[in-house]
Amino acid sequence: MSDPIIKPIEAIIAETRRQIHPYVFKRLESRTPRKAGAKIARTITVTSGKGGVGKTSLVANLAICLAQAGQRVIILDADLGLANIDVVFGIRPKYNLMDVISGEMNIDEVMIQGPNGIQIIAGGSGVAELAELEAEKARKLFDQLKFLEDKTDYLLIDTGAGISDGVISFCQAADQIIVITTTEPTAMADAYGIIKILSSRRPESHVSVMVNRVDSDEDGNEIYQRLAKVAKEFLGFDIHSLGFIPQDRQMHLAVRQQTPLMLFSPMSPAASGLRRIVSTSFHELPENLNGDGIEGFLSRLTRFFKGGSAQ
Ligand SMILES: Nc1ncnc2c1ncn2[C@@H]1O[C@H](COP(=O)(O)OP(=O)(O)OP(=O)(O)O)[C@@H](O)[C@H]1O
Ligand SMILES: [Mg+2]
Repeated sequence: MSDPIIKPIEAIIAETRRQIHPYVFKRLESRTPRKAGAKIARTITVTSGKGGVGKTSLVANLAICLAQAGQRVIILDADLGLANIDVVFGIRPKYNLMDVISGEMNIDEVMIQGPNGIQIIAGGSGVAELAELEAEKARKLFDQLKFLEDKTDYLLIDTGAGISDGVISFCQAADQIIVITTTEPTAMADAYGIIKILSSRRPESHVSVMVNRVDSDEDGNEIYQRLAKVAKEFLGFDIHSLGFIPQDRQMHLAVRQQTPLMLFSPMSPAASGLRRIVSTSFHELPENLNGDGIEGFLSRLTRFFKGGSAQ
């Protein structure tokens, strides 16, 4: 790329860093001093119920946004479907979790280096295997995954559509769940469906809703308020608003170029919207949330997967 193109991009990245850094460091400092062996990684599962509403796009771009703010990010692609994270990043994973489960590789050997230092773990068929793993194999895998604790600040988990036991288990195990919906009634109904399951399976779940492809913030807020109201009235469950991302045609072009929007078009409306969300909502641990790192995540995951079904 020539200088006139690179220069503005570098300026935007520097500006993003400048905006977000103080918040991020505030968050990290609020949890320091970090004693040796203390847990710090925050685990976030992104889900939706309905397919195609923007989970993978959010995970990829959120990862870049956090990485540009100096955070270490690992993505676990727990989607068995077709629109996987590697497509968005334009990479071809040679290995996946299955190779760790079979004992042939260590976790750092299957991690793929993405842009901005992001690391990606392809779940592949390994994700489906998790539910059925014998205790001995599960222990070995989880021993490997524990190594990630000191390697990252965020573990972002992209799930497939639907409400399979696998998806629900990854939600129940995480510190925080981001439920994505669009303004379409079917997407809202499915978002409500997944919130309903989570509220009954693990009432202490921290669920944040992000409304994607909105025409305006008012539009997004109205959808969020409707969801929050029914969740409160019918489930007695509080959800949180993560914010709204506008409809953005650049998103489609970015996917076609297999480059995350945050790099493809950093000033586009959706990229700017996401940066705003990160700078306002990610600078400290959300209320009522005591992150217990990857170790806590893994111990919950073992519990929920044992016997092949969620609790
Ligand atoms: N804010 C947006 N504006 C315009 N298009 C968007 C936006 N967010 C996502 N899209 C488009 O929606 C499509 C689906 O997005 P994505 O693959 O991220 O959804 P998903 O929820 O991960 O789907 P799946 O359930 O199949 O895994 C993509 O083509 C993407 O470009
Ligand atoms: Mg997806």
